[in-house]
Amino acid sequence: MTTTVRTRVAIVGAGPAGLLLSHLLAAAGIGSIVIDRRERDEIERTVRAGILEQGTVDLLVSSDASTRVLADGHRHDGIELRFDGAGHRFDFPALTGRSVWLYPQHEVLTDLIAARLADGQDLRFGVTATAVRDAASSRPTVVAVDADGAELEIEAEVVVGADGSHGVVRKTVSPTGGHFREYPFAWFGILCEARPSNDVLVYSSADAGFALISQRSESVQRMYFQCEPDTDPAAMSDVQIWAELRKRTPGMRLNEGPIIRRDVLRFRSFVAHELRRGRTVLVGDAAHTVPPTGAKGMNLAVADVVLLDRAIRALLLDGDEGPLDRFPEVAARRIWKAQHFSSWMTNLLHTAPDATDFDRRRRQGELHMLTGSESGRRYLAEAYTGWPFDTAL
Ligand code: PHB
Repeated sequence: MTTTVRTRVAIVGAGPAGLLLSHLLAAAGIGSIVIDRRERDEIERTVRAGILEQGTVDLLVSSDASTRVLADGHRHDGIELRFDGAGHRFDFPALTGRSVWLYPQHEVLTDLIAARLADGQDLRFGVTATAVRDAASSRPTVVAVDADGAELEIEAEVVVGADGSHGVVRKTVSPTGGHFREYPFAWFGILCEARPSNDVLVYSSADAGFALISQRSESVQRMYFQCEPDTDPAAMSDVQIWAELRKRTPGMRLNEGPIIRRDVLRFRSFVAHELRRGRTVLVGDAAHTVPPTGAKGMNLAVADVVLLDRAIRALLLDGDEGPLDRFPEVAARRIWKAQHFSSWMTNLLHTAPDATDFDRRRRQGELHMLTGSESGRRYLAEAYTGWPFDTAL
């Protein structure tokens, strides 16, 4: 037995991209159905990134998607970059007039899910997309199966793949795959119960490798250190983990506490060859992946959605297909800037396993060039706080 439902926009994936798109379209009177294979509490509990660009925060607030971000999030007016045992402050408001916000992704998702449900929109958890049919036609259809094994078909005017890097929509839109690069390292991440060690995030590059001292709240901190990609998160004791973090943050006093979670994040840069096939479009991690160093993943997904919202409005409200035709080219400009920034910052701060003495000394030179001049600091600050959204299509 297959149930068929119709909607204007079928969105696969209830992550930041899918939910925000549904929210923005609803404000224009365009209905959508969002499906996700995960259950609601898994989505709301999964620990992901934590930094929002100023433009992302402004959009969440102005679109009424989240007001909590201002009350419960924390504005960060910079970051600290550490090397040779000393810290170098990047003062974002002075350099760019903008800041970033620490507000974990699962909080953004909690707010977006609440907003979608309060609005009476069709949001279905535990529903797994298995294929997209007639992707290039004017009636693309998502084929899905629910938790009980019942088949569902969602017939739409536009299908959006916001189902992450392992999603099913990418295969339909970009069957040849994408441009990618792998890195010879990963991050060992922990959540711990401790007070913050610093007022802003600390990105520390040491001979022993890289560490990032991030935060979640006054009492819980998120920290990462560079490790080998196949590291087993269970294989290290708490004592060993703290020793690794201390080795990578010389000269800094780290507040330690019980480790309540640990994971290993692999690094990959990826951009799908195609972002659109007819009326089926990719956004967010389904379209691209960045290594986490530049904190660009969720912010780039939001930027995709700002553009796609406009393209879909033009198509469905004005019958103008031009903006959707131009979406891949315009979106790709920001995607490749973010790709560059993320891989640049990754290479700047990490030590590759095969690094030579020349490589290490050259990198010290780059760190001094960057921190030692206002234009160097501004180069990083402009990218980190986020470029203005492209809105012209
Ligand atoms: C995080 O807090 O999870 C985080 C912050 C900044 C990054 C990456 C991850 O660049």
